[in-house]
Amino acid sequence: MAHKVLLTGGAGFIGSHTYVALKNAGYDAIIVDNFSNARRDVTDRLEIITGAPVECIEGDVLDGVLLDRIFAEHTIDAVIHYAALKAVGESMGKPLDYLNTNIAGLYSLLDAMQRADVFTLVFSSSATVYGQPDHLPVDEAAPRGFNNPYGYTKLVCEQSLEQISAADDRWAFGVLRYFNPVGAHETGLIGEDPNDIPNNLVPYIAKVATGEQDQLSVWGDDYDTPDGTGIRDYIHVTDLARGHVQSLDALLKSRQGHVVNLGTGTGYSVLEVVKAYERAAGRALPYRIAPRRPGDVACVYGDTKLARELLGFEAELGLDDMCASSWNWVSRRKNT
Ligand code: WQD
Repeated sequence: MAHKVLLTGGAGFIGSHTYVALKNAGYDAIIVDNFSNARRDVTDRLEIITGAPVECIEGDVLDGVLLDRIFAEHTIDAVIHYAALKAVGESMGKPLDYLNTNIAGLYSLLDAMQRADVFTLVFSSSATVYGQPDHLPVDEAAPRGFNNPYGYTKLVCEQSLEQISAADDRWAFGVLRYFNPVGAHETGLIGEDPNDIPNNLVPYIAKVATGEQDQLSVWGDDYDTPDGTGIRDYIHVTDLARGHVQSLDALLKSRQGHVVNLGTGTGYSVLEVVKAYERAAGRALPYRIAPRRPGDVACVYGDTKLARELLGFEAELGLDDMCASSWNWVSRRKNT
């Protein structure tokens, strides 16, 4: 009997790709999503990719009655929790929205899981909890902090899970610290699909490549990096999705929790990403140098040793794959 996994926020960018990876790995999966940052037709496209019906329930993790109904109607073995707000800049202006959705939302989910005797959770965390690390590559033992409400919510959620698992060994948590997820599924049927002007680099470059945006603003070229622009550890969303499956496999097998980085261990600068995207799109992409963005760090990339040791996870796809898959996705999307 296949394990059944509930994906909260599963219609979103990472969740939809994980849905495909789970099905490919023999898991059964259902999605609950309020569609605040996902399009409803993503389930139709998931059905094409997986060749099977997709069960998706519209709703919010803050709705405990809905969650109780889902757990009553389905035999859920584990939950992967994506449903959260995730824009650093936006969080500076809407801290209460972020606290409610990201922190109260997690507690609402944990309460419902406990009522249903479901104690296995994979939690979507972020390298943002490292701020600007003192040492690179940054490993999981590095000090944590925050310099915006979004990062604060991720830190509080991680610390809450630590407190719960320390007090109650029924719980098994896989905490995954994403670096910078980019790219799209090889079919070009699902990908990053921001509702409005993207905050993040690659979806913004993608809109310049399709002509939806005139030019990219490079937020600062005076950082202490080889070309002066910010360096990040970009990871292909397909690799990231597989990392979730390997986290779940490990939790269901050992019941032993883990906190791991999901990155490639390689950092690329903004200008290196622009050049890679130009190769993918086969055209020059206009950009201007603009002032630094408040809250940005200069350089961060991850130590990947622990994910390899505990989960057997290693990223396989490189920056050119990420940009080529993103370009394939946005080209198809623009024509639909
Ligand atoms: C990357 C680099 C910018 C846009 C955040 C969250 C993280 C994760 C990913 C959720 C930086 C530069 C960007 C632009 C630019 N989110 N940039 N022009 O800030 O590293 O991480 O998003 O999981 O948790 O913290 O990603 O893509 O916004 O920025 O020059 O229009 O690109 O300065 O150097 P970031 P990003």
